[in-house]
Amino acid sequence: MTLSNRAWFALFLVAALVAFGLGLLTMGLAGRQSEVPGGQRTFVTPIGDQERDPAIWGINFPLEYRNWRRPSPALPTASTASAELFSGYGFARDFNRTRSGYPEGLHPASCLDCHEPRSMKLRVGRKAFIDALSRRGIEIAKASDQDLRTYLCAQCHSTYAFGKDEALDFPHEKGLKSEEVLKALDARQTADWTHPGSGAPMLKLRGPSYELWSQGIHASRGVTCTDCHMPYVREEGSRIASHQLHRPLRNPLEAQCAPCHRWPEGELKARVQDIRARHQELEQRAEAALVSAHRAMAHHPDPEARRLLRQAQAHWDFVASEGSGGFHAPQEAARNLALAIDLARQAELRVRSSSPAP
Ligand code: HEC
Ligand code: HEC
Ligand code: HEC
Ligand code: HEC
Repeated sequence: MTLSNRAWFALFLVAALVAFGLGLLTMGLAGRQSEVPGGQRTFVTPIGDQERDPAIWGINFPLEYRNWRRPSPALPTASTASAELFSGYGFARDFNRTRSGYPEGLHPASCLDCHEPRSMKLRVGRKAFIDALSRRGIEIAKASDQDLRTYLCAQCHSTYAFGKDEALDFPHEKGLKSEEVLKALDARQTADWTHPGSGAPMLKLRGPSYELWSQGIHASRGVTCTDCHMPYVREEGSRIASHQLHRPLRNPLEAQCAPCHRWPEGELKARVQDIRARHQELEQRAEAALVSAHRAMAHHPDPEARRLLRQAQAHWDFVASEGSGGFHAPQEAARNLALAIDLARQAELRVRSSSPAP
């Protein structure tokens, strides 16, 4: 039996397709491998254990370095924090505001904060955060890659307190929900400052993105910070994880959200902006209630009213200092603002009903 020309040609086609497919597969695997941190590496220049200068890391990893250096385009920042609410508070004490020495537009984390210098493996640089995890019974050495990607960001994007000797300390031991965090702060008896209007001992919340995210639908589905904030981008023709670490609205959202949501760009943007707008409306109402309570309490040194107002403003600040405009957990953010409004009005009612009629 002989094969016809046609059959030979068909066989040849099948073989060629198989070979081509295998080639693609191995190329794909090789591409994947170079994206996974932790592989064996040869360095152009060795990176010292304590090397904080990204330029030195950049000699070995020019693409990530150049991408990290690319300044983020300016976005209007919606700063709604009313100056009156922070009256008497000095921001100088905050770690995150004093630490960054990089030019405007660059994210302040250094390569060393997230990578092991020899292997480039992901690692959490801040020991205080590792300690806080272990107080919650979480061993960093056993963390999954996905959890590690969250902790990388959470080591800085969590609220913090000042422990003994002004050391960095995370109030996470009771849990990540706002009430639990506030309880942990109360237990430390931290009054960050006394408000000169109402005389209330106040708490300053400091950007609890990790905590708010943990209460949302994305966290409960295992969607982590890097899924949305480090999308794959092209840098000089190569595909790398974006190292600009900026707000998603600065990139086309499709790059970040489309792997999971099949919504067109316009709808994605609208969903984020819609959440922001509703959040802002509630936030402004909470600010008005807080300002009104501080003023009403000016001549009424009532400890219970002060306690209520301290809690009210802490719930507001929990989401106001967080910065995602409620996006990380919209319902939870709204709940905090509702609590802020209610507690502030309770504080005001207390002093108004106890003061003699004019
Ligand atoms: C805030 C944390 C963070 C910072 C800061 C950071 N990286 Fe990364 N980097 C990551 C994450 C996360 C990934 C992996 C993406 C993934 O798989 O999720 C990554 C991936 C990489 C990779 C590819 C992984 C590999 O093994 O090939 C390189 C190279 C790299 N980073 C270099 C750098 C350099 C150079 C700097 C400093 C200029 C830097 N990174 C700063 C978090 C960070
Ligand atoms: C070493 C500390 C540190 C680490 C680690 C870190 N950040 Fe930041 N990040 C900061 C500070 C400080 C700012 C500036 C905050 C401010 O303006 O109050 C910032 C700003 C941001 C912003 C706002 C930038 C903008 O465009 O306005 C985003 C988004 C962000 N970080 C995301 C991340 C993500 C995602 C990770 C993890 C992959 C991460 N950060 C890891 C310290 C850190
Ligand atoms: C599902 C996607 C998604 C996930 C997951 C996510 N973020 Fe965001 N994040 C956003 C969006 C959307 C915004 C705000 C919209 C904008 O302005 O781009 C934002 C805003 C931010 C900001 C900006 C705050 C500012 O002041 O400008 C920071 C910081 C941040 N996220 C950190 C984190 C951290 C840390 C995690 C993980 C614990 C995380 N995000 C998880 C989508 C996400
Ligand atoms: C890794 C996957 C993943 C990524 C990336 C992701 N999401 Fe989601 N998102 C989910 C899942 C899962 C849900 C839960 C709803 C569901 O199961 O359909 C969800 C829900 C939502 C919801 C509904 C929230 C609610 O409370 O009902 C919005 C809005 C949303 N995502 C917006 C975004 C935006 C905007 C981005 C990009 C900045 C983004 N998502 C990125 C997986 C993702």
